[in-house]
Amino acid sequence: MRVLGIESTCDETAASVVVSGQTILSQIISSQADIHQKYGGVFPEVASRQHAEMVAPVIAQALAEAHLTIEEIDLIAVAHGPGLIGALLVGLQMAKGLAWALKKPIVGVNHVEAHLYAAIMSHDREVVFPCLGVVLSGGHTFLLRVYEVGRYEILARTIDDAIGEAFDKVAKMVGLPYPGGPPVERLARQGDPYRFALRAGRCQNPLDFSFSGLKTAVLHTLKDHSVDAIRADVCASFQRAALQDVWQKTVKAAEQIGTNRVLFGGGVTNNSALREIFSEQSPFLHCLWPTPLLSLDNASMIAGLGYHVYRLHGPDDLFSLEAKARIW
Ligand code: KG4
Ligand code: ZN
Repeated sequence: MRVLGIESTCDETAASVVVSGQTILSQIISSQADIHQKYGGVFPEVASRQHAEMVAPVIAQALAEAHLTIEEIDLIAVAHGPGLIGALLVGLQMAKGLAWALKKPIVGVNHVEAHLYAAIMSHDREVVFPCLGVVLSGGHTFLLRVYEVGRYEILARTIDDAIGEAFDKVAKMVGLPYPGGPPVERLARQGDPYRFALRAGRCQNPLDFSFSGLKTAVLHTLKDHSVDAIRADVCASFQRAALQDVWQKTVKAAEQIGTNRVLFGGGVTNNSALREIFSEQSPFLHCLWPTPLLSLDNASMIAGLGYHVYRLHGPDDLFSLEAKARIW
């Protein structure tokens, strides 16, 4: 089954063609990072306009690279949430227009679930369920009990900022470009992770995350010093605090549900310090990480998961499929 995936939840316009949930024939991503850089984060209205401009050429390129015509596509899968509502609507309306005009089935896919599916796709092997799912992205931070593809229980979430958002905001504070994760990680390598006693917030549900206080603590630390003199130590101390918090809660959640298998998803999983923490501090966990190509926002994970959603539940109704800023 040849599936066209369409992704426009945040600041990437992406389209992919994936066969039967696994084989990627093409993957096109048009990133808006350069455009949002001057705002230090995603400017929603600008994102929607950019998606509107790029969505048709990106789809055309994905089809061309897959050597297929749109008529040869069997299913259209579109990320219908969670995300920025204006951005979501662009991808969804395009997907609906194609499905209607060409009389193709359509399925709406949850973008957060798709980030976890990316780890399954990356390894091209049977994943043993149930397992723990950990989503660490720019907009989402979740711990999930994964019973099987399409069936989840939320164990924990962030009560304020997402972890990637915290990296982006700290980057802005110390004068690094957007998206902030990669430059913060690079600079952190030169800094002392124990210079500043930063730590992530505590929550009522001990597995929930809170990064807003950590971000404010970084701001206060910067006020007391010359930014240039402490930039690397601040990045290292912030990163240590944020990643150790993720590690601790992941280990606790895995214990709680009685598994040692963990699926990771989302852009922050590119962080090599995060991967090192898991391999050094918890070698007993079998961690499945997405490949770099599938960890950031992309449409292959949408097309891949869309295939399974279609097999399990059939097509969505074209007229009642809606964009949802929040799903979970
Ligand atoms: O999954 P993603 O592409 O988008 C969302 O669904 O939100 O993740 C983007 C986020 C950004 O916040 C970016 O700063 C972060 O992932 N990120 C990283 C790294 N690479 C990307 N954070 C920490 N370390 C990295 N190496
Ligand atoms: Zn994402």
